Amino acid sequence: MRAVTVNGYSAKWLRKGFPWVYPKEVVKGRGNPGEWVELRDERGERLGVGIADSGWLAVRVFGFGDAPGDATTLRGLLGRAAALRDAVIGPETTGYRLVHAENDGLPGVRVDWWSHHATVVLDSPALAPILPVLVEWLIETRAPRGIHLCYRTDPRDAAPSRFDPAPGLLDGHVPTDDVRVLERGVTYGVRPHDGPDVGLYADMRDVRAWLEPTWGGTRVLNTFAYTGAFSVSAAFNGAAETVSVDLSQKYLDRAEANFRLNELALDAHEFVAEDTFKALDRFRRTQRMFDRVILDPPSYSHSREGTWSAKKDLPRLVGAAARVIDADGWVVVASNQGEMSPRDFRGLVLEGFKRADRVAQEIWVGSQGPDFPASSRFPEGRYLKVAVWRLD
Ligand SMILES: C[S@@+](CC[C@H](N)C(=O)[O-])C[C@H]1O[C@@H](n2cnc3c(N)ncnc32)[C@H](O)[C@@H]1O
Repeated sequence: MRAVTVNGYSAKWLRKGFPWVYPKEVVKGRGNPGEWVELRDERGERLGVGIADSGWLAVRVFGFGDAPGDATTLRGLLGRAAALRDAVIGPETTGYRLVHAENDGLPGVRVDWWSHHATVVLDSPALAPILPVLVEWLIETRAPRGIHLCYRTDPRDAAPSRFDPAPGLLDGHVPTDDVRVLERGVTYGVRPHDGPDVGLYADMRDVRAWLEPTWGGTRVLNTFAYTGAFSVSAAFNGAAETVSVDLSQKYLDRAEANFRLNELALDAHEFVAEDTFKALDRFRRTQRMFDRVILDPPSYSHSREGTWSAKKDLPRLVGAAARVIDADGWVVVASNQGEMSPRDFRGLVLEGFKRADRVAQEIWVGSQGPDFPASSRFPEGRYLKVAVWRLD
């Protein structure tokens, strides 16, 4: 195995278990993308083992100290990741994250489990060498009907000219219909071969779980609704009406299909293909009020109405929502930007209440569930911030 020597700064971080080496930290030696390399400090001491890349990262680290860079190391990490899910995911949930990249010691590697299918998401084509072990391990331990590969490359990397293997099926078959997965007894249809966005964000499961007993008789507005997971859970748990707003009619059709999968009558449930700000403005003008508003926006998005960025626009969004929430109504606000601190997030939300001249009580704060563990070695691990506020 070739050796890559890193500078003192990187050596310090590697000794603490940080899983990345940046190109500027490499003093000597390099590996070709996809090659296993040994990491050493400038005195020659072995710090670990990883897979080389040629983009914004030079090496992703899979083992520290003397760990060998082989199938045994990978299988050990995969087994440990699976044991956590076996311990925390109940029988009423069949869609969850099985491997959570850096936070499970497998940097750049995510595996989502969808009832009988696995979706593998790699951050870089340089990680392809782990696939034979991963596929073998999945077949041995979970017997999936299909293993589907996709890539989610970083914007800091130049777009690769080719992917090897190409995104698509690694083993088994492509499902002929949506795969039904259970989340706490509610059914959703997902497309594991459409990764990474297959149709359900499992990291919101604990938020939906907390809200479950609180929906009875409420009028719910679910913005950025995607395939309607919050709306379906609300309706399933007794909400009187739901309005699901999303720019994409395609996603709203899937939201409607999710209502049908759960045998929920559709008469009190609306699906509105519109920009969230436009919809909120219309509800304000027509004085249509709600008891619950969900705000789970993407970090960035482009629409005919302009560009949305959570950092810039969260106060405006919270303010617009606060104007259509009745007295004692609640707003659920989420941000999945790892680089935004919980303190900044809270500040932006409070700014929104101020703009709408509303006073609010924070009644719950939450984050991703245990199948999305946050490693103490990885500062951005706890990326999801969710808060529920009750308005005066
Ligand atoms: C992060 S997902 C929301 C996930 C959803 N809350 C859930 O838990 O399933 C973002 C969604 O926002 C939608 N979207 C993006 N910009 C929008 C806008 N300006 N107005 C309405 N929907 C938008 C996208 O189409 C996508 O479905």
